[in-house]
Amino acid sequence: MSKILVIASSALADTSISNQLIRDALAALTTGYPAAVFSMRDLGSMPVPHLTPDAAAALLTGKTENASQAAALALSDELIGELKAADTIVIGAPMYNFGIPSTLKAWFDHVLRAGITFRYTESGPVGLLQGKRAIVVETRGGHYSEGPGRAMDAQEPHLRAMLGFIGIADVTFVRAEKLGLGPQAREQSIGAARAQLSDVIRDQYRRAA
Ligand SMILES: Cc1cc2nc3c(=O)[nH]c(=O)nc-3n(C[C@H](O)[C@H](O)[C@H](O)COP(=O)(O)O)c2cc1C
Repeated sequence: MSKILVIASSALADTSISNQLIRDALAALTTGYPAAVFSMRDLGSMPVPHLTPDAAAALLTGKTENASQAAALALSDELIGELKAADTIVIGAPMYNFGIPSTLKAWFDHVLRAGITFRYTESGPVGLLQGKRAIVVETRGGHYSEGPGRAMDAQEPHLRAMLGFIGIADVTFVRAEKLGLGPQAREQSIGAARAQLSDVIRDQYRRAA
């Protein structure tokens, strides 16, 4: 492991559980891999813009006819460059209205680019970012991993689909859920997520050994 990209997307800054957990993960990873370099995008405090007609045209064609298209293409290239350079991607993804924050979706809108991170073939789409591992820390107020809430989870399946579409199929989800279901459920869930995250980091060490 040499490069870690951290993508945070909570709007809750320091009180965010996903921000706290990804900070823990990053601290453990950089302790275990002192030579690793990391870069961070905090989309919660510095969101990338939503697509506009200029941005969509530039990203679809790879060509630019004005300054706004050029800026959008440059941003997309920069975000994809960060992603390509990383071998491990740590994503903090809270659930907002059953899905991911729009800031995180806007980031994906900039990095899923035909011909660059995936391509269409006669037998279907092929992801072009191979050999990477993603660790996704999901936070949610309710309970969605089992029972009736499961059908309403538009967060984890969406993340798995987008990452898989660009070739990142090695994805570990660490869930902290039931965060809004009272202090006991909340503490239990955060503790379990922390323990799972430690296991994931240990597994990462084992893989690199
Ligand atoms: C705008 C917004 C929408 C939310 N929507 C949901 C939701 O649909 N389902 C849910 O279980 N929790 C929802 N929550 C609760 C968050 O998932 C929960 O507070 C979580 O801890 C936020 O993540 P963070 O602590 O990592 O920032 C929402 C929170 C916010 C701020």
